[in-house]
Amino acid sequence: MARILTGIQSSGKPHLGNLLGAILPAIELSKAPQNESFFFIADLHSLTTIREGQARIENTKAVAAAWLAFGFDTEKNTFYRQSSIPEHTELLWYLSCFTPMPMLENAHSYKDKADKLDKAHISAGLFTYPVLMAADILLYDANFVPVGKDQKQHLEMTRDIARSFNHEYQKEIFTLPEARIDEQVQTIPGLDGQKMSKSYGNIIDIFLPKKDLEKQVKSIVTDSTPLEEPKNPDTCTVVKLFSLVASSEATEAMRENYRKGGYGYGHAKKELFEVLWTKYEKEREIYNYYLANPQELEAKLQIGEQKARAIAQKTIQRVREVVGFH
Ligand code: ADP
Ligand code: TRP
Repeated sequence: MARILTGIQSSGKPHLGNLLGAILPAIELSKAPQNESFFFIADLHSLTTIREGQARIENTKAVAAAWLAFGFDTEKNTFYRQSSIPEHTELLWYLSCFTPMPMLENAHSYKDKADKLDKAHISAGLFTYPVLMAADILLYDANFVPVGKDQKQHLEMTRDIARSFNHEYQKEIFTLPEARIDEQVQTIPGLDGQKMSKSYGNIIDIFLPKKDLEKQVKSIVTDSTPLEEPKNPDTCTVVKLFSLVASSEATEAMRENYRKGGYGYGHAKKELFEVLWTKYEKEREIYNYYLANPQELEAKLQIGEQKARAIAQKTIQRVREVVGFH
């Protein structure tokens, strides 16, 4: 049996990048009968970027509803909010004492985020973000962690911290996890052509109502080549996104239209919108169902939280014993 574990922050609405980069590959892995999956909402991590409580509650529901909309089986697996399991923050402290500062100072994700802030706004929480992530993973003895490429270094840090702890006590307290990074799934571009991310305000939210989704797709940034002229399909964000959700025949036809000319970006955006609207119709319905019936979402999370907590408590017990807390 292999344990699969992954989390998505509730720092915004789930988007097409989360879906193709994380949710769908993780759900695929969870279907193998020999796998047991732990998928959670990293709401503690979201406090490093958003402060407003009501927004976090809404985002947490939205991320949870997205997992369910794409068919995550919460009976076979474990589904929970990170903040409901206090052992995550307890383990964070123990692991912090085994984490070298220079390792955190060299984290790409920390450096990227810190570069965008003035010094007074760089919080200790942002700095220790990877240690909390290590706690998330090590608490459940995860074997495989499906994530996007941007998380590779965080997984390496988790392994380093676990190794150093095990070495100190000469005991396999923690299981060393492996990242599962699907090389086929590239970084999905957002409306502005940069990486799609909740924190860059450039997302496509496939669950939006029709008019809003259409508006979002229309706002994809393109150049000003006139309709009649040929266009380069290789550099256009609309074609790139279309190729990720449409059939290969439809993508080839769009690419040919670009090369021929007489086909504008407006036409391409309309085609992209239509695929997004029809392809995810069923999932949109389930997503909206859960948002309209939050008590059902809550019930599923609470069952998951009981299962998760029982495991987390056992791990913490193991840790408390070797470090000498009784
Ligand atoms: P965000 O960057 O929007 O805040 P998260 O950091 O919560 O997203 O990421 C959750 C998961 O989704 C991670 O596994 C991450 O690698 C994946 N992911 C996020 N954005 C993208 C993207 N643009 N392309 C591919 N995968 C992505
Ligand atoms: N840091 C991850 C991200 O931004 C989210 C996350 C938190 C996570 N804890 C995790 C992912 C544990 C995998 C395992 O994408």
